[in-house]
Amino acid sequence: MFNFFKNSKKASIEEKNLIKIPKHVAIIMDGNGRWAKSRNLPRIKGHYEGMQTVKKITKIASSLGIEYLTLYAFSTENWSRPTREVNYLMSLPEKMFDSFMPELMENNVKVQVIGDIDKLPINTKMAVNNAIKKTENNTGLKLIFALNYGSKKEIVDAIKNIAQDCIDNKLLVDSITEEIVSKKLYTKDYPDPDLLIRTSGEQRVSNFLLWQLAYSEFLFVDCAWPDFTEKEFRKALFYYQMRDRRYGGLNEN
Ligand code: FPP
Repeated sequence: MFNFFKNSKKASIEEKNLIKIPKHVAIIMDGNGRWAKSRNLPRIKGHYEGMQTVKKITKIASSLGIEYLTLYAFSTENWSRPTREVNYLMSLPEKMFDSFMPELMENNVKVQVIGDIDKLPINTKMAVNNAIKKTENNTGLKLIFALNYGSKKEIVDAIKNIAQDCIDNKLLVDSITEEIVSKKLYTKDYPDPDLLIRTSGEQRVSNFLLWQLAYSEFLFVDCAWPDFTEKEFRKALFYYQMRDRRYGGLNEN
């Protein structure tokens, strides 16, 4: 049990005890651009601050005992942004892992990636692969970056794979199950997210984990990702623990 503010008399919502920690939290880190614009800064400054938030939230997730943290860092649709912004986003993994690796190791965090990383620029791919390799024996929090990720593409790839298995007589059409589909997705080694958080007030899933979010709790918070503090994160986790998850069934107590 986590009792962070056990001595405070009147705990505010984010200070209350967290007793039901989700195993897997997925986050759509939205609002970097608007955060920068509201300060008359270039959009890339918003992404830089977003990267600082990634570091902070990773450390908190790890200390709270969350097992999987999946962060939507770059979607298959994000290539349509101005070249300068795309280039900057592609430079972030290198920047981040250069400065953050000692703390990732200290916190026993294992870096993983979902998405089509073969299509990333060589330096980005190398930075990501290095981080995966350096942290491969860590046994704590799995920090999963969705990079060049699109859920519809992931599902189409899974369908092609299953169809090929049927053609090769490895699988019968009648024996295709939800479990088999799940095992063909990039996320095959992870449980489905318990909680999806999206920052910055938008209420949509933007081609993120469409299959995997079937029974996740959704939480939309107003603050922009660079402003998403420990307090905001703890508040989100507190709201999660108040939710009654019934998975389509009844809860009769
Ligand atoms: C959405 O904000 C955010 C992104 C497209 C990029 C998110 C990336 C990071 C926070 C850094 C990730 C770090 C690594 C290591 C990959 P937006 O630009 O769509 O914001 P807006 O809706 O306000 O314009």
